[in-house]
Parts: sequence; structure tokens; C-alpha cells
Amino acid sequence: MQEMNELTALDREFVQDPWAVYRRLRADGPVQRVLAPGGIPMWLVTSYADAQALLADPRLSKDHAGVRELFPPGEAGPYNSPLAAHMLNSDPPAHTRLRRLANQALAARTVSRLRPRIEQVADELLGGLPSGPPVDLIEAYAVPLASTVICDLLGVPAVDRSNFRAWSKAFVSAVPPEVVRDAERSVMAYLTALTDAKRVTPSDDLLSDLVHISGQPGQLWPDELVRMAFLLLVAGFETTVSLIGNGLLSLLRHPGQMSLLRSDPSLLPGAIEEFLRYEGPLHVATMRFSTEPVPVGGTEIPAGALVMISLLAANRDEARFTDPHVLDITRQDPGHLAFGHGIHYCAGAPLARLEGQIAIGRLLTRFPALALPGGPDEPGEPAEPGELHWRGSVLMHSLSSLPVRLA
Ligand code: HEM
Repeated sequence: MQEMNELTALDREFVQDPWAVYRRLRADGPVQRVLAPGGIPMWLVTSYADAQALLADPRLSKDHAGVRELFPPGEAGPYNSPLAAHMLNSDPPAHTRLRRLANQALAARTVSRLRPRIEQVADELLGGLPSGPPVDLIEAYAVPLASTVICDLLGVPAVDRSNFRAWSKAFVSAVPPEVVRDAERSVMAYLTALTDAKRVTPSDDLLSDLVHISGQPGQLWPDELVRMAFLLLVAGFETTVSLIGNGLLSLLRHPGQMSLLRSDPSLLPGAIEEFLRYEGPLHVATMRFSTEPVPVGGTEIPAGALVMISLLAANRDEARFTDPHVLDITRQDPGHLAFGHGIHYCAGAPLARLEGQIAIGRLLTRFPALALPGGPDEPGEPAEPGELHWRGSVLMHSLSSLPVRLA
């Protein structure tokens, strides 16, 4: 049995460069005990086959109250919030009912209908970028694009969007617990008021559709409605920022792949799948716990243990993908786990793919000389992994900033 002080810590160094740690952990077996931030012991699954199987395994529960009880007192963070009891943190039959309603509301607003608006937002943002000094594409492009799209879809008025960005950042970054609690209180008060307003004056948006569903007997309760709105806003925003940022970084580091994509834009959908596999937006799937002993490889996860499933590690597993550490936008072996697997498979995957394609496609067309700062014709070295900052989160794999030269 490993001693606590022998366990790998998912610390700051891991967040900045997880690949070496994953390679080492996977060499020791498909699942290992690790220390999550705060020194909390958990199990981490790193092989593709086991990650895929366990994402769909009912012996691993996502029930928020069960997860909360397994954290040491005072350490459960977001699981203490009344907002935590949303669809992604629930098991069947509650999950089944909520997911049916979410699918129904999302299907009514088909993704293809959103294309012209996303293109318009992307073009407006690109038109406003300065072409001289390095520009941070996260703050100047990915963030406003993704937040405008999800807020438009849900019906969050434009004046409230900067608040929403600040709250959302608090939920997925390493910030003090009181900052998270303040953000939770604010977002809950805000969404309660917004859904009440939509009840009185519905408009053409997803939140109004959900409010309508919530008026029908046996459907969504008002508090479930607020939690669903919260989940859609948070799940649909930071992840998409990260897809755009990580995808662009992957291309900028691989000029050959960038040229290939520029010469044949029909490769774009496949390129997005490769970005999701190669440098996906989420380190790990959201928290699960074992309700009974679960054998994995030669090891057994005991009952009542917190379990993280590494999507990044699974997507670079040599046993599943040929040359997994190579970025190849023409790759023909689909099946990455960046959107999860099983009943919690991402409800917004079609929208995320469309946003990624439009955001990256439009940027490449508009700026033919896009490059990392420094480079052959400028003093200084091209930006390398050590100079780029990944946000201090074990959940999100996203850059703090992505400075580029546009021309
Ligand atoms: C590239 C962007 C995105 C990525 C990588 C992503 C990834 C994921 C993953 C991995 C899960 C499952 C987590 C688990 O099983 O623990 C998930 C669930 C979910 N995602 Fe996404 N997501 C993205 C964008 C979006 C968007 C744009 C929306 C909203 C429109 C969205 C809404 C949801 C919802 C509602 C769930 C919960 C599904 C359930 O519990 O049944 N996501 N996402």
C-alpha cells in the first residue's frame, strides 16, 4: 500500500506540464492514488480503456451529496453550494429526467440556426483587434466570443455579461473559498431574478424555453431551473474558451499543420477533433465516487473513494492512439473522450464544435501571418511551454493568456 507521502501530488507543476506525470502514472498501472489540491487523496484513472468504461459505470456515482460527504470537513468547496445539485452532479433517475428536459430545450434551438450569429460575433471581434503589438487571443477573442454565444443562447442581457465572466472564472480557478462563495451567492441571486423576469416577459431564448417547461406539472422545479441555467452557463463557457485557446496554441506550435489547414479548409472539422484529443479543455471529468469496490487492472478502488478520470491522459494513451503525442489534423482514429462518455456525455458538444470551427477558421482567414511572438524575423525565441501559463486548475486545462502577433 502506498504511503501518503509517496503519492503524486497534482500540484502547480503538474498543472503547467501534466504529460510527464501522466506518462509515469500510466506506466505504473491504469489507476493510481494521488493527492488532489488541498492534500486530499483520490484515485486517478489514466488509461483510455478504463477511462471510457468507468465514465459509463453506474458503480461510480456523481451524486453531489455523496461526493460532499467524502471530502474532509470544510474542504468540499463547490459541493457545499445549493447550486451543486445540478444535472451533472446527479445519478438516474433524477439525471434521466433533467437530461431529457435539457435535450428537449437544446434541440429546439438547433445549432445550425446559431451559425450566422456566431460568425457575426467572430467577425466583429476580429475587426477590432489591433494588428501592431502582440494581442492576447484569450481575453480579446476567445472569452468575448464564447461568453457572447452562451449568453445569447440563454438570454442573459448584454449589460450583465461582465459580471457573469467574473463569477464563472471563480468557479474554475484556484481562488480562495470565500471568493467562490461570494460568486455563488451572486450568481444564484442573479439567475433567480432573471428566470423570474423571463416568467413574466418571455423572450426568444433557451432560458425562456426552460421557464416554460418549468411551468408544466412534474417537469422542472424553480430551483432546478436556476441550477440548470447555472450549469449551462458555466459548462458552456470556460470549456469553449479553452478549446479555442488550446486549439490555436496547438496550431501555432506546429506550423506544418497550420499550413496544411490553411491550404485545405475542409480539414477544419477533423482539426477541431484533433485539438480536443491532443490538448483538450478538461484535465479530468467531474468528480465521481465508488459506491462499491471497483476492480481496475490489477488494482481495486475501494467503496467510498473519490475518483477522477483523466480525459487528457486517456486521449494520449499509446494503447489507443497511434503516435498520441503527435498533432495530426488528418488523423483517422476518432473516439477521443474530451466530451466524456455515457449518460453525462456533453450536452453542448455540437455547439462547442461549431464555435471552435468558426472561431479558428475565421481567425486563420483574417490573419495569414498569425504567429507566436518572437519568431524567425523578430528577436527572441518562439514561446515555449514554460513561458505559457496554464490556469491553476486541476479540472480545466486552459491558458491564462495566449499572446500572438497578428501581422
Ligand atoms: C469544447 C467545449 C466543451 C467541452 C470539452 C465539454 C466537455 C464536457 C464533458 C467532459 C462533460 C461530461 C463530464 C463528466 O462526465 O464528468 C460535459 C458535460 C456537459 N456539458 Fe459540456 N463541454 C463543452 C462545451 C459545452 C457547451 C457549449 C455546453 C452548453 C451548451 C455544455 C453543456 C454541458 C452539460 C449541460 C453537461 C452535463 C451533461 C449531463 O450531466 O448529462 N458543454 N461537457
